[in-house]
Amino acid sequence: MNFTVELAERSYDVVVRDGARDQLAALIAERAPRAKSVVVVTSASLAQQPWFTLTSGLEEFTLFVPEGESAKTMTALDELLEAFADRRLSRDDVVVAVGGGAITDLAGFAAATYLRGVALVQIPTSLVGQVDAAIGGKTGVNLAAGKNLVGAFYQPLGVLCDTSVLATLASRERLSGLGEVAKCWLLENRNVERLRGASLDSLIEMAVGLKVAIVGADEREGSSRVLLNYGHTLAHALEKLALRRGPDELRHGEAVAIGLAFAARLACALDRVGDDEVKYHDAVLATLELDGRLPRHYDTDELLEAMTFDKKARHDLGFVLAGVDGYSLVTGIDRAVVADVLERFKGEL
Ligand code: GLY
Repeated sequence: MNFTVELAERSYDVVVRDGARDQLAALIAERAPRAKSVVVVTSASLAQQPWFTLTSGLEEFTLFVPEGESAKTMTALDELLEAFADRRLSRDDVVVAVGGGAITDLAGFAAATYLRGVALVQIPTSLVGQVDAAIGGKTGVNLAAGKNLVGAFYQPLGVLCDTSVLATLASRERLSGLGEVAKCWLLENRNVERLRGASLDSLIEMAVGLKVAIVGADEREGSSRVLLNYGHTLAHALEKLALRRGPDELRHGEAVAIGLAFAARLACALDRVGDDEVKYHDAVLATLELDGRLPRHYDTDELLEAMTFDKKARHDLGFVLAGVDGYSLVTGIDRAVVADVLERFKGEL
């Protein structure tokens, strides 16, 4: 299925299908006809996958970056930009990111900043990448102070979501990607019964359809795009603290699942919604076999501190929350209320 992100002269297609990566050469020929070379940014382990065959029709060279969140550092960015320069990558050439959300974020930001912008194609290979990270032009790296604090909005020429590559994903990786799918299901307020038995392809298409529509309406997060951060205020704080325990401690989608369950509880505590909304959230997460419980070892004060530094926050705490009129960004929430809901949430374990 093809979806179009409608952004006037910067519009582009998101292709979701088995074998979508085979469209790379045609996409480059159409959208970057003067390109002479292509730099593929990926990881060493992805390059070993049986499906890792790319045909761009041009001179190609491959650069390896670290896996997972370790890719999203200023050091990795620096090394990537120097490698672009070493290869004499020009403004006519193309960066092709092949990897999960961390790699597409890093390579996208490198493409956005090298020579003030070179063409970019995103080939997301994880579920998180296909349903969220690689679409919509958010690119960037992390700082010690928090996730995604350095970055740019930079739209690609196209996104090729090849669903066949998901077959080789580790099951934890696939499951964690469902955190972003759950977010979209909840934002669309879809019936939990319809979720049972839904195919992965249909879930990917549902999430991509929502994302493409929102990005087309609000590219730079002035209004509705903020809703795509549902569950992410706590999720980003958890990821920041989890990174201290190791890169494999918590996947993005796992953190999002916890963030969604928490957001429902916070909305309920603020009398924005009733307990039925909490039950609905829990049912959606359970149907997707996501664990939305908050482990006790996350310190409440540290989580609050990390959440205050979230991009949506303006020197206070900001959450996307459900309400009687749908979802909206709510700021200025009393820290004591958030702390109390966090403590009670941990107590549910
Ligand atoms: N991942 C949220 C967004 O792209 O806006």
